Amino acid sequence: MTDVHPAWLPPAALRAIGSRRVSVRGDGLLVRTVIAEVAQACGRYGGAVVSDGADLVLTVSTPACGPEGFAVSRDGGVTTIAAADPAGLLYGLFHLARLGEAAFGDPFPPEVHRPGYARRMLDHWDNVAVHPVMGQVERGYSGGSLFWHDGALREDLGRVTGYARLLAACGINAVTVNNVNVHATEARLLTDRLGDVATLAGVFRPYGIRVHLSVNFAAPRDDLGTADPLDPRVRAWWALATDAVYAAIPDFGGYVVKADSEGQPGPFAYGRTHADGANVLAAALAPHGGVVHWRAFVYDHRQDWRDRRTDRARAAHDHFVPLDGRFLDNVVLQVKHGPIDFQPREPVSPLIAAVPATNVAVELQVTQEYTGQQRHVCYLAPMWSEVLRCARGMAALDGLAGVSNAGDDPFWTGHPLAQANLYAFGRLAWAPDLDPVAILDEWIGLTFPGAPDELRETLHAVMDDSWRTYEAYTAPLGVGFMVRPGHHYGPDVDGYEYTPWGTYHFADRDGVGVDRTCATGTGFAGQYPPALARVYESVYDCPDELLLFFHHVPYGHILHDGGTVIQHIYDTHFAGAGAVVAMRDRWARLPAASVGPAFAARVSALLDEQVRSAAEWRDQINAYFYRKSGVRDAHGRRIP
Ligand code: GCU
Repeated sequence: MTDVHPAWLPPAALRAIGSRRVSVRGDGLLVRTVIAEVAQACGRYGGAVVSDGADLVLTVSTPACGPEGFAVSRDGGVTTIAAADPAGLLYGLFHLARLGEAAFGDPFPPEVHRPGYARRMLDHWDNVAVHPVMGQVERGYSGGSLFWHDGALREDLGRVTGYARLLAACGINAVTVNNVNVHATEARLLTDRLGDVATLAGVFRPYGIRVHLSVNFAAPRDDLGTADPLDPRVRAWWALATDAVYAAIPDFGGYVVKADSEGQPGPFAYGRTHADGANVLAAALAPHGGVVHWRAFVYDHRQDWRDRRTDRARAAHDHFVPLDGRFLDNVVLQVKHGPIDFQPREPVSPLIAAVPATNVAVELQVTQEYTGQQRHVCYLAPMWSEVLRCARGMAALDGLAGVSNAGDDPFWTGHPLAQANLYAFGRLAWAPDLDPVAILDEWIGLTFPGAPDELRETLHAVMDDSWRTYEAYTAPLGVGFMVRPGHHYGPDVDGYEYTPWGTYHFADRDGVGVDRTCATGTGFAGQYPPALARVYESVYDCPDELLLFFHHVPYGHILHDGGTVIQHIYDTHFAGAGAVVAMRDRWARLPAASVGPAFAARVSALLDEQVRSAAEWRDQINAYFYRKSGVRDAHGRRIP
């Protein structure tokens, strides 16, 4: 597989380890993985696997670190990773890769590392059979699926091994292998095609990753004519099906369910609640230690745009808060980070703060459906970091889930620089307080070992602020959407405005934005804890970047920086599109040899497209609001 890019694990990422005399102590599958990694690195860089006289010791010996944790220290010329369990040893090994030679310099006392979340999950929206509209991977921008090809499990799973290794190296320990929209072929993964899931589980297992499955809530209907969660036969069906799963995959992680959402079946069909629905699956999984990730993405997608009281943003809170405390212990409510749908800027979902008696995992979208579809550079860790800070301030989270951006593209993620998003997701799931800039540095350091300053600085200049740049040239001030319907790439200001999907901006000749206040709007602002609700409710206190998410304001409304909304729209769109030109120019100055010709060419071609697309966004947004408002640009720039 020489044509596949090594991402953040090129051989040289393990050079510091591979040039040592290394002793690995412990038993079991994951310890064998560590030994194999070390032996391979030593074979390449002149070190050796030894039993005595080591200058690097990796040992399973310190239960105090907790599950998957490890301590790293250096004393008397020996660096030691002491882990609580074999998984901790594996994470310790990759920690050493990040440290490189720094792990072998001056002595330092034991430093303990533990995962921020026990479950750090990537959800693949991969279809087994190619879907007529959504293709092999729903919202996938990186080629085909790593697992499935045209209706079958891939015969060669070598790339899945490589993927598992990359995921372990950034901290992921759970993977869902099929789309949340479970179509007919995919439903069979739970029954007669369970063997395929078991095969994948076998590939992920040596890297400490458990496999999960998206299931269709109506699965028992074919056999029983019903999927009513309170029907004892349905309960027995799930118990039997789940026993069979564990017979084949003893360390199976559990189910992911999208129910009563965008056409997927759910408990509402039987007049039952989502607690009834989730609990029937949870009861089947409980004896085996499995969990249900039950998605909170439940809303009315057949809305009437004339009805300004119905608000899609309210839906998750309205549906799930009354159920708090009624879910079994092994149900995890999986909540999209914002109340609508993975827009470049949304407030954090108020549901997170409002279900203290329920386990909650936050769901992030690593695949860039609404953030440039891996044709635009958009480093998302700064957004996720803000989201996590706010979410963690509201409630203790139980896990993090991300929709994967990986596929069978030679660069894994289509855009080579989108690899940093996959890496950063794992790192934030392991250590949610990490600084996104530090994560970017880590990614650069591992991906391009020994990179010259010029390369580091260029990658920084192009990536660091790219999310804010993307925000600047797309939908303004948190209003969201304005994308082309269906595929969601590129601008169409009114694309969703008169559709049933519930994503409106309500621009007219006088103003723009959605009134979500309690005083005069949909009342969504009132779903937040009081201190935050007061901020969002007030048109003066609401942060500018969310102004149009919460308020409908005139174009002349004054922002905190003293400028008007309409001038802000013009300014950010000119500046954002200009920043993309600067990104392209910066990249063009980099000698292609420093990243390799294929990498350099792919990024250059995509930056050309980003320049084109950002100009299109700028022109469409500016022209639209100029025509609506009749207000000229204060700087007299041309608005086409
Ligand atoms: C978005 C996306 C869909 C996906 C859905 C979900 O709406 O466009 O393709 O199925 O989210 O999260 O379930």
